[in-house]
Amino acid sequence: MEKLVIQGGVKLKGKIRIGGAKNAAVAIIPAAILSDDVCTIDNLPDINDVKQLKRILENMNAMVHQDHYSKMVIDTRGIDSYEALGEYPRSMRASYYFLGAMLGRFGRAAVSLPGGCNIGVRPIDQHIKGFEALGAKVSIQHGVVRAEADELKGAPIFLDVVSVGATINIMLAATRAKGVTTIENAAKEPHVVDVANFLNAMGADVKGAGTDVIRINGVEHMHGCEYMVIPDQIEAGTYMLAAAATNGDVIIENIIPKHLESISAKLVEMGAEVKEYDDSIQVIGKGRLKNANIKTQPYPGFPTDLQQPMTVLLSIADGTSTVTESIWENRFLHVDELKRMGANIKVEGRMAVIQGIDKLYGTEVKATDLRAGAAMVIAGLVGEGETHVTNLIHIDRGYEGLEEKLCSLGARIKRVTR
Ligand code: EPZ
Repeated sequence: MEKLVIQGGVKLKGKIRIGGAKNAAVAIIPAAILSDDVCTIDNLPDINDVKQLKRILENMNAMVHQDHYSKMVIDTRGIDSYEALGEYPRSMRASYYFLGAMLGRFGRAAVSLPGGCNIGVRPIDQHIKGFEALGAKVSIQHGVVRAEADELKGAPIFLDVVSVGATINIMLAATRAKGVTTIENAAKEPHVVDVANFLNAMGADVKGAGTDVIRINGVEHMHGCEYMVIPDQIEAGTYMLAAAATNGDVIIENIIPKHLESISAKLVEMGAEVKEYDDSIQVIGKGRLKNANIKTQPYPGFPTDLQQPMTVLLSIADGTSTVTESIWENRFLHVDELKRMGANIKVEGRMAVIQGIDKLYGTEVKATDLRAGAAMVIAGLVGEGETHVTNLIHIDRGYEGLEEKLCSLGARIKRVTR
């Protein structure tokens, strides 16, 4: 068991390079199955979720080669199993993308019900609704989702909720269906667009990704390709928030500033300075931050995945703030941990009311999920004294070298075995 030991009180300063987007990578790797050929995927983040996906592919007898963590060569010609079952798929959310990919290519798939962060009920009814509309029979028994179709046929699908996962999964299956599929009320997140671009690089015909209507013209064959994953919007946002929280001065490089507009706008409203360049952003702290109200929304709104780190900033801002979580019903587990550090936060249903205090105090806290883990690390950076963050399994699933990157900005963090 490892934990991070953080000495608080350092202003972050310097430059940091952002890795490939986790939530794009975890869809693009399974999507490679749709081509019965070789795909080279570059700019992958060095995170455990990517390692797990590699193991799942290997268990299906795909050949996967990596000279360096950032570049994966996937040869799916030898796949002779249409199942992703057991410990690896159960450990992460994104394993559900094997359903859409295998259904598209082989007309059948069996995948263990996915796990992932404990942030509320995480139904997959919209994924299933989409597969069924394409003509698949879907069943869930003994923790395994099975989907099967003699032939997938394009269809119009209207999502009842804006879902990143359902949008991508339906897109995957529909690329090889006969005819045209439209997904209405589709998610518009940057990683949805990135997956569509990857599919098109393999020869698919996907149009409209990034808007709320995506149109997929099914193709018979998809070929191999070389593809570069986009930079991680949420990793970049995490460092922007860490820079502002510590009153630092950090340039965040290798990003797409447009993806971060909701975060930049909020930080400016709170009194930080944000300078945008072509592919980087500089965040400069200007003293104590002002209070603000946050409501999480699908892209381009404020992302739920940065709500927890933002709560740390609000807990030491001047005045009363609110955070309304409109995507997940249970994404406030970090609040109890922040309260242990002195934060004054009341949660009522989907809303947290935060009375800003002068400072947080270091103590032992737990990473209750991935982004809660990042929140705890930021709290440790600003807290007085020493903070110990436990349960690092979540952080390691989704952040590439979090403590190394922060230490390169002057943070004092050590990973120790408990
Ligand atoms: C993705 O999860 C991300 N995960 C999450 O990031 C992120 O919080 C979420 O999108 C929202 O942006 C990955 O990409 C692997 P959804 P996903 O389907 O696809 C409801 C992180 O920290 N819903 O967009 O599972 C659902 O309950 C992770 O990196 C249904 O009702 O999320 C939620 O309220 C955590 N039925 C809302 O839609 C469905 O079939 C949005 O979920 C699917 C979803």
